[in-house]
Amino acid sequence: FQTGLLSGRHILITAGPTQEAIDPVRYISNHSSGKMGFALAEAAAEVGARVTLVCGPVHLPTPDRVTRVDVLSACDMLAACEAAMPCDLLIAAAAVADYRPEAIAPHKLKKNPGTEDGLVLQLVRNPDILATLSARPDRPFCVGFAAETQNLIAYATRKLLDKNLDLIVANDVADPSIGFNSEDNSVTVIDPQQHSTRFSQASKGLIARQLIAFIAARYHHLHI
Ligand code: PMT
Repeated sequence: FQTGLLSGRHILITAGPTQEAIDPVRYISNHSSGKMGFALAEAAAEVGARVTLVCGPVHLPTPDRVTRVDVLSACDMLAACEAAMPCDLLIAAAAVADYRPEAIAPHKLKKNPGTEDGLVLQLVRNPDILATLSARPDRPFCVGFAAETQNLIAYATRKLLDKNLDLIVANDVADPSIGFNSEDNSVTVIDPQQHSTRFSQASKGLIARQLIAFIAARYHHLHI
């Protein structure tokens, strides 16, 4: 693979979870650590790409030569990605919350005194960042991730087609050794012709370098 093909290209990468506020002290989120997205940003910078990394709240140092934009919510992540456009390639490794509370309570929610009442939270759909950017006239080469706990290849393929992607990276997060907050990963990359390529278990750093090489080859194929 000729990773030099990405030299000077602008690559936008999303990483980490999003936080959807319920009130000033509580939020809805998930277990993404950002490790996969940060490893991709590092690997892309290593091959000379200009990298913008838009990340949710994570505890990771910024890789060298990477421009980092920190956000909290899915709506913030979409706005930061739109502000970073145009880009040549988009790699969406973030675990974006699909829903957010309809309204953020201005003050800490209080329990109803003297009762054992539960709490009903009304949630609304968040914008889909990847599908939004993939539908733009200045559409980049789009690589999505699919975190699944069952029917990995079928669900990932549906996301590839529904979101009009060039590639999707299927990640079986039912296996704790290769999912959220793990050191390693093992993934299957699927293309629109539904050919799949498997990358067997290795550190997220190595998987990221293999993915960047694979993406570079596919991107080059489309742009010669
Ligand atoms: O961060 P780590 O701890 O290292 O874990 C890595 C990971 C498991 C988070 C990563 O490998 C991974 O699979 N990321 C995608 C997680 C996910 O939420 O996938 P999804 O199937 O819900 O979403 C499909 C794709 O659409 C993803 O590229 C996602 O970034 C994107 N999406 C989803 C919803 C939304 N509102 N906007 C989006 O852009």
